[in-house]
Amino acid sequence: MNVSIRALHPVIGGEVAGVDLRRPMSRDEVAAIEAGMDRYAVLVFRDQQITDEQHVAFTLNFGALEETVTGHIHKRHERRLGDQFADVSNLGKDNKPLARDDRARMFNLGNRLWHSDSSFKPVPAKYSLLSGRIVPPPGNGGNTEFADMRAAYDALDDATKAQVADLVCEHSLIYSRGMLGFTELSEEERVTFRPVRQRLVRTHPVTGRQSLYLSSHAGTIVGWPMPEARAFLRELIEHATQRPFVYAHEWRQGDLVMWDNRQTMHRVRPFDDQKYVRDVRRTTVAGEATTVAQVA
Ligand code: OGA
Ligand code: MN
Repeated sequence: MNVSIRALHPVIGGEVAGVDLRRPMSRDEVAAIEAGMDRYAVLVFRDQQITDEQHVAFTLNFGALEETVTGHIHKRHERRLGDQFADVSNLGKDNKPLARDDRARMFNLGNRLWHSDSSFKPVPAKYSLLSGRIVPPPGNGGNTEFADMRAAYDALDDATKAQVADLVCEHSLIYSRGMLGFTELSEEERVTFRPVRQRLVRTHPVTGRQSLYLSSHAGTIVGWPMPEARAFLRELIEHATQRPFVYAHEWRQGDLVMWDNRQTMHRVRPFDDQKYVRDVRRTTVAGEATTVAQVA
């Protein structure tokens, strides 16, 4: 085994060398990558020209795939990728950029808000793995930024740590999309996206580190008046996304970036999506338990 990892940033993000994602992984390689995830929370693998099948096979080393729920946003017959993938590209089934007013495009614009993947599900995601098949030329936007929710938690003052310790939030796509004015949801979508509860402070099962579980999907705090909850969550997100806590990933074709949704938030930065193709595809490793069951 020849896996090595170098830090990309003082608190978050590592670049992995010595693995070829086209090949099956040994147990030791998987363990080294998991240990890297626990330490860096985000790992970057460069120059990985993988197929969808290889991407899925690599993902399955880390657990079961999470099912996608937004299939009806991209209607099934219009989907470009297989069911194992979240299509976060700017493309339609014809591989051409989605029109500005396309519903799937407008929905995906929610990825510009800081979030943690599927925090709107009762058991939220563990890891996400995003493969950059085609990305805009360097310097043309479309970076993905990652914020370290462990460092953000550590930097809270003691009074705020005590205040957040036992809080439970409600998360829903209705809240995050509503923030952008995307409010036209069918009754069926409203049922699918009904709010779920998540602890605001999580404890990492391996390292024991605490982190803030924030996301643009969080729309209220149980027992709080909604405006007070929103104002408070907004302040926490501002705190947690200060530059010293953020690694900005500049994509190169063939990058695969893997992150731990339990201890990070991320967002995509703007780019000219009518001009450039950005074909990025995500698999998601399912989480293991609800966060409300966790004892902080
Ligand atoms: C995602 C996501 C950001 C990006 O795949 O979960 O938010 O850079 N993507 O496309
Ligand atoms: Mn995401």
